[in-house]
Amino acid sequence: MSRIAVIALIVWGVTVSAAAYFFVSGYTTEGSDGRAVVMLSTAERDGVLAEMRGLLEATADITAALARNDTAAIADIARPIGTAAMAGESPALLAKLPLPFKEDGLRVHTGFDALADAAIAGATTQDLTGLLSEHLLVCTGCHAAYRFGG
Ligand code: HEC
Repeated sequence: MSRIAVIALIVWGVTVSAAAYFFVSGYTTEGSDGRAVVMLSTAERDGVLAEMRGLLEATADITAALARNDTAAIADIARPIGTAAMAGESPALLAKLPLPFKEDGLRVHTGFDALADAAIAGATTQDLTGLLSEHLLVCTGCHAAYRFGG
């Protein structure tokens, strides 16, 4: 193998390892309250926090629909914040998020799909309330572990 090929291979190996390292660890430091601080740009943070407020608004709307026993509305509210909402996530942003954060992010969206599916399948309001309360543990678990900085 020529010297250039060996150097190219080493550079490639280092690049792939660095990409793999950041895919798993993300860009974090330790926060003053013990949570991991995910370092994002201002625009990225604004975007993610706006998405978070949308999740809370949808959760409030789902709770109101549960109180009216309106399961059709629950499916309509939950579906758009299911996995469909993940289309177009920026690869640059995803690279900055630690792997467990990405996993919780995925779980939060698949959970809303599951809620919509259960509502369509005719689950009772009590079952749907149980599903929602369990699902909210994904929110509280991630909030207990992470905050944003940058
Ligand atoms: C993968 C991790 C993760 C998941 C899952 C998650 N959040 Fe968040 N959320 C965060 C982080 C990090 C912040 C910023 C907290 C901080 O900087 O102190 C945040 C902030 C928020 C905020 C504040 C928004 C603002 O404008 O400051 C709301 C509201 C919120 N989340 C709602 C939710 C709801 C509702 C769910 C579940 C349906 C949820 N989040 C799931 C990580 C997550």
